Amino acid sequence: MRKLAYLAIACTTVITACGAEAPQPSPQPTAEPPLAATAPPRPNLPNWKEEMPLPFPFPEGAFAPVDAFVQAQQLGRGVNFGNMLEAPKEGEWGLVVREEYFPLVRQAGFDTVRVPIRWSAHALRQPPYTIAPEFFQRIDWVIENALQNDLNVVINMHHYEELFKDLEGERERFLVLWDQIATRYRNLPPEVLFEPLNEPHGALDNESWEELFRQVLAVIRRTNPHRNVIFTGADMGTLNGLLQAKRPNDDPHLIATFHYYLPFAFTHQGAEWVEGSSAWLGTTWRGNGTQRANVDYDMDRAVRWGKQNNMPVWMGEFGAYSKADLDSRVAWTNYVARAAEARGLTWAYWEFGSGFGVYDPISLQWNEPILNVLIQKQEATGR
Ligand code: BGC
Repeated sequence: MRKLAYLAIACTTVITACGAEAPQPSPQPTAEPPLAATAPPRPNLPNWKEEMPLPFPFPEGAFAPVDAFVQAQQLGRGVNFGNMLEAPKEGEWGLVVREEYFPLVRQAGFDTVRVPIRWSAHALRQPPYTIAPEFFQRIDWVIENALQNDLNVVINMHHYEELFKDLEGERERFLVLWDQIATRYRNLPPEVLFEPLNEPHGALDNESWEELFRQVLAVIRRTNPHRNVIFTGADMGTLNGLLQAKRPNDDPHLIATFHYYLPFAFTHQGAEWVEGSSAWLGTTWRGNGTQRANVDYDMDRAVRWGKQNNMPVWMGEFGAYSKADLDSRVAWTNYVARAAEARGLTWAYWEFGSGFGVYDPISLQWNEPILNVLIQKQEATGR
């Protein structure tokens, strides 16, 4: 309900002096230690913020920090709005975000939407790297709809391919993109979470990624001192990537994530973007002893990493491609979701309405067998 009150005032257009410093957070009941200022100085760029009215007026100082462990639990059962806003242009991959999707996923029982976004395709290549205002407005609308429907919303940065090829050439742009995003959304409620980068790989190995993560976190912390931010390992954000990573610093408002697609030859059989995957067609997953034990072992390792690093862990993607047989997909999805939940891990399914889809946007029908194992109706989440 608290979100609705906030949204009632969100409809009036307010032009805020965006060039001004971010509002100071209200004093917090439990003082949190100041964070090391590891962000590089703001590049000397023209003051692009003055042109960017904030989308949602929100009473200053009203941001009530949520404990990272508590919020990781609140993420509950989520779904990725994949193949929409991370396409080079929304719609190019056959799907656009539609208003009805939000109440649809909420009513089906999901608690969270993770929104993959290709920001890098909607910003100037050169300084000041301005994000196109109309693209920002589109994301504003996505966030507004998610909050209106009582969904947590994870805003990520997806498919920044140039960064994976040329870290030094793109470092400043990456940080400035996040400066714009974090500044614009700094006054939104804590149910909006930031995930700085999907599946780091290529030029980003463990070490260089952790350094970049600390930098981007420091940039985000200038304007969002207490918002929960999602941390991932390198190596494509896999469990292995996470296991090789360590907690980046002592910032208390971090939630760790990993993506789970094992066995890969099962979940990615026939995936057009994975070379050689047509040879895997016909791979089944029926949940025999070894198959189950492997999933259990992996989930145990994720939990152990969380304990050792004192961080909550969220499985931000998992799913099996539609070229696998439906019985196997259902069995695997069920087993992975339950194995995660049994250990207190929350998750987001990959994805809503495309190749892994739990919903068919053409026939407007849920894929009931998959939906039923994702959301076990008898155990309504009651958030
Ligand atoms: C990638 C998608 C891919 C999915 C499963 C996502 O993180 O962005 O392109 O379909 O993982 O491989």
